[in-house]
Amino acid sequence: MQSLTGYLSGILMDAFENAGLSRDYGRVTVSDRPDLAQFQCNGALAAAKAAKQNPRAIAERIVEAIAANPIFRDLSIAGPGFINLSLTDEFLGQWIGRIANDARLGVPEKSPENVVLDYGGPNIAKPMHVGHLRASIIGDAIRRLFAFAGDRTIGDVHMGDWGLPIGMLISEIAIQQPDLPYFDRNRSGPYPQQSPVTLEELEALYPKAAGDCKADPERLERARLATAELQEGRAGYRALWQHFFEISVEAMKRDFAALGVHFDLWNGEACVDPLIAPMIETMEKAGVVEQSDGALVVRVAEPDDKHEIPPLILRKSDGAVMYATTDLATIVDRVKTIDPDLMLYIVDQRQHLHFEQVFRAAIKARLNGKARMEHLGFGTMNGPDGKPFKTRAGGVMKLSDLIRMTIEAADAKLAEAGIGKDYPARERAEIARMVGIAALKFADLSNHRIQNYVFDLDRFTRFEGKTGPYLLYAAVRVKSMLRKAEDQGDRPGAIVAPAEGERALMLTLARLPEAIAGAYDGRAPNELCAFAFDLAQSFSGWYGNFHVLSEPDAELRRGRLALADLALRQVVLILDLLGIDVPERM
Ligand code: ARG
Repeated sequence: MQSLTGYLSGILMDAFENAGLSRDYGRVTVSDRPDLAQFQCNGALAAAKAAKQNPRAIAERIVEAIAANPIFRDLSIAGPGFINLSLTDEFLGQWIGRIANDARLGVPEKSPENVVLDYGGPNIAKPMHVGHLRASIIGDAIRRLFAFAGDRTIGDVHMGDWGLPIGMLISEIAIQQPDLPYFDRNRSGPYPQQSPVTLEELEALYPKAAGDCKADPERLERARLATAELQEGRAGYRALWQHFFEISVEAMKRDFAALGVHFDLWNGEACVDPLIAPMIETMEKAGVVEQSDGALVVRVAEPDDKHEIPPLILRKSDGAVMYATTDLATIVDRVKTIDPDLMLYIVDQRQHLHFEQVFRAAIKARLNGKARMEHLGFGTMNGPDGKPFKTRAGGVMKLSDLIRMTIEAADAKLAEAGIGKDYPARERAEIARMVGIAALKFADLSNHRIQNYVFDLDRFTRFEGKTGPYLLYAAVRVKSMLRKAEDQGDRPGAIVAPAEGERALMLTLARLPEAIAGAYDGRAPNELCAFAFDLAQSFSGWYGNFHVLSEPDAELRRGRLALADLALRQVVLILDLLGIDVPERM
């Protein structure tokens, strides 16, 4: 169904059109002065400017034209020509009733587009760390939001598995265990099934190798050579790579499952390897590639750039390809297999220049088909010192440790509040898990993604304030009220016109489409968080003033149950779009 502002806009647009003015001026929005009116239309001012007429006179004409419409309780003109509109309680009640009966809770569906979302971005052979938390949580929320809005979404984890870190690892193992069959160039035939190293060993090898490469240029050269040989197809190296890949993906899947983050595609940089040579050939033919000191580059700078945009390096002189090369080949692959209308990259803001280069090169070489490309950057999660979050010992915090810590903190808060103390241990543990994940996700998503924020477990897990646990608790309270109603034989009925003190809740419920559209257009899940919090507050204000279960009038009681039920369904929907599950009871 249409949104309420959409419906009202239709009425005002007709009035503008009948007055010989453009329909565009009829757009109605939620009032930013709720003390004066429920909705507003500012179009008379712009219309007056264009038609060189008096804005107040135009506003008066419009108001006159719609005055007979029985849905309006109050129409007035403020200042130079703002039209203020308020609805009758009857109409408002009916509208909320329609929302309650709508499968999409009042939210219109957009025409579908193919949208690829690139998020998560973990690297194989390295544990996922806190940096991957934001990429995963924000990306998954945007994917859910786009899917709900009506798009066909494809979430791709795009693992880092084809660069220098892999060459560092291969050369490190070659140094430590030179006799392994993977290093025997003369060997033909199969390699062992079992990886020569465990994930734990790999995770320890990487910092060692990286440290040595940093300290010793010769050691670094060895890693570079191994990377180039891996990419060229040296069989033993490819076999080792396969081991790294398999054991890493298993661990990643575990972490992502714990976080409740979903991917449709488990692709990585390496899977586009076969596309790279033909892509470079196409780009050379298109004349967008240049030689520079033995390397192949694409010049992407433009005359009016404010900052210098360096050339994108496609292939180094040693033959190895770069991060940008695999990103370009991935665009080629997605265009071929998915034909996206839009590609969204949910990646750390510090990679902004990289994406600027990649997008420009893709457009220059016409690799992107019809797809628009956007980098949706995000800030860092910081420690109390304001620097990117570290463990107490100063190392990077593993994602799995962070999740465990958060669930423990949630568990402690539940115990403190005496929540679920008589529940079976398994259920309690499950509640703690859900509260912990809600705390983590909501805290992350409630800031605009570009902002940095401070990791503060105590604040995140509180049951008061703008937190995940507060919203879960609010939702669970309504669930339990509805269960009680059912026990006493009451089911939600028809929503009735609001009494004094009920309008605010109804107007909030009618605002869900704006919250969804705002979050969608801005690629900003924080707008969903803000709406969920507004709704919970508005609901709790109403619930404090109106009896539901003890209301003697059956029609009123069932109407209020329906209102509570709608509020619950909206909160649960938004939390679901944020990737947050709500327990049955707490
Ligand atoms: N693996 C990269 C990292 O850890 C992120 C990948 C982001 N996606 C992309 N298409 N480049 O920084």
